[in-house]
Amino acid sequence: MIYTEIVGTGSYVPKKVVTNTDLEQVVDTSDAWIQSRTGIVKRHMTELENTSDLAYKAALNAMEDAQIQPDMIDLLIVATVTPDAPFPAVSQMLQHRLKLNEITAFDINAACSGFVYALNVADKMIQSGAYQTALIIGAETLSKYTDFKDRNTCILFADAAGAMIIKASDKRKIRSIVTYSKGDYEGLLSMEGYPLKVNYSTPTQPRPFIQMQGTEVFKFATKVLPKTVIKLLENENMTLNELSLIVAHQANRRIIDYAAKILKFPLEKMYVNIDRYGNTSAASVPLAIDEAIKTGALKKNDVFITVAFGAGLTWGGALIEL
Ligand SMILES: CC(C)(COP(=O)(O)OP(=O)(O)OC[C@H]1O[C@@H](n2cnc3c(N)ncnc32)[C@H](O)[C@@H]1OP(=O)(O)O)[C@@H](O)C(=O)NCCC(=O)NCCS
Repeated sequence: MIYTEIVGTGSYVPKKVVTNTDLEQVVDTSDAWIQSRTGIVKRHMTELENTSDLAYKAALNAMEDAQIQPDMIDLLIVATVTPDAPFPAVSQMLQHRLKLNEITAFDINAACSGFVYALNVADKMIQSGAYQTALIIGAETLSKYTDFKDRNTCILFADAAGAMIIKASDKRKIRSIVTYSKGDYEGLLSMEGYPLKVNYSTPTQPRPFIQMQGTEVFKFATKVLPKTVIKLLENENMTLNELSLIVAHQANRRIIDYAAKILKFPLEKMYVNIDRYGNTSAASVPLAIDEAIKTGALKKNDVFITVAFGAGLTWGGALIEL
């Protein structure tokens, strides 16, 4: 039987930091409101780098961490809703730039759940025996289609990339992954089209932006987050107290707190970095996992659950031993 394990992680955020105080100059909001309603203090936004640039740097970081050479990677999946172009895919741009062999490379769009979807697909492709080593990336430049006149959304979204390398293994480390979607709620969080270039200026046409029914999305997230955790534990016949950490998609601090309360799970074991990065969609989960590992919040042999939810609606999670 072929199993999979994580052998390295990496991440990258653009240099420019946008604080809540900066946003006070742009929309009618306040640092106090943003912190109390979302937990966000600051976030990173790109100036000239596009999604493939952020993904490239996160990938290099993960390859170095895993001590993996380019010719060892035979599968590349990028999860993004903010590609540089409709085609070629970000994954093909990266395949060239990272000097990978002529391998299977493609993008996935499952919004903020994209990385968990990519992990599920890569895990199954490796388990089939056809692939050995996968580079999986979640990368976004959400600032390119954020409406900086809409205080409901512009305070939430930001830019980042996270990467992970998983390999075929005889140890059952990545244990259970689930992914779901429910298309009948697509209107709760949507985007009709978007500029693909970063630093999009002086548009001559009205441009479409992210549309979000925040309260409804909040209700959906607080329902599926605990449900997914319980499902993963049931799949593995495990209990909550066997988990070292839950690394949830960083959409709103209150969603994370609420899920901990519903699950009766210690709040200090819910990983939080939304204060520093905001909601980075498909990058959120791999960025948080990388940070948790690099700061020692997750250690070798720790068992953790990662869980994500987003537009689609989509959601999913994974139960993993490091
Ligand atoms: C968006 C979100 C932070 C709004 O928080 P909320 O507590 O639900 O706030 P509401 O939308 O009920 O708005 C409450 C009030 O604050 C106002 N408000 C909204 N954004 C504001 C801001 N940035 N600054 C100040 N006031 C704001 C509203 O206009 C409203 O004012 P009103 O009562 O005069 O109409 C919250 O709903 C949320 O995080 N939802 C989930 C979003 C999400 O996770 N999306 C991505 C999923 S992957």
